Amino acid sequence: MPDKRIVQVHLLPELVPCGRLRHGLAVVIDVLRASTTIVHALAAGCSCVRPCAEVDEAKELAGTMRMGRVLLGGERGGQPLAGFDLGNSPCEYTAQVCKDRTLVLTTTNGTRALLRAAQAERVLVAGFVNYSAVCEQVKADARPVHIVCSGTEGEVSLEDTLLAGAIVEYLCEHEDVALNDGARLAWDCFENHGRVLQGAVEIGQGGTHLCCLGYEEDIRTAVQVDRFALVPELKRDPLRIEVGSVGIVQSHWKC
Ligand code: MLT
Repeated sequence: MPDKRIVQVHLLPELVPCGRLRHGLAVVIDVLRASTTIVHALAAGCSCVRPCAEVDEAKELAGTMRMGRVLLGGERGGQPLAGFDLGNSPCEYTAQVCKDRTLVLTTTNGTRALLRAAQAERVLVAGFVNYSAVCEQVKADARPVHIVCSGTEGEVSLEDTLLAGAIVEYLCEHEDVALNDGARLAWDCFENHGRVLQGAVEIGQGGTHLCCLGYEEDIRTAVQVDRFALVPELKRDPLRIEVGSVGIVQSHWKC
């Protein structure tokens, strides 16, 4: 009998056991807002995204690049940073702004989660906005799957867990899988809240914070399921995120 495919959800990057991602396929999620913004930026024509953990590191990296070719984007506490070109609102990343530019991006949780996940053999970036495209890429890959939720400053977040659960549900329907408890929890969460997606995302801690800052539009944008059919993928030397694949066979969203 063929082995079951390992599908694990790590509700926070800090909860990934040491060495676990090696040889695996990591799917990094930060619905509000880094992964949603990365999908938008690439769809709008950015040639790649260079993720940075720290603000100074991002400024320094952008400073080494040719002016007019680079965009410096990101946030701290959800707010745009002084001296940066753009914040972390997906809709700021339009074709007019992004075309052929390299985006140097630093965010509180998402870019850090991505850098941690770089230990995996292959790393994809997922939002609700590219849900079906991610599902199809994950299914076509034989490696163990590790879905890494970014969370919010060390706390589990509802919106990332929901998306992780939606991907788990898809995989359970299409493959013989061996789940960890994180995957079961995420799946349960999706079963309970997936049908009222926008409402669920709004009441989570990250969503509440964004609403307080006046970014309600970003929540509506983040729950536009399958708006894009592209999957961002981490490439190396230098570490950067590019469009890894484009296209879906069909939408797999059931809610
Ligand atoms: C993050 O990476 O921490 C988030 O994207 C924060 C945000 O801008 O909402």
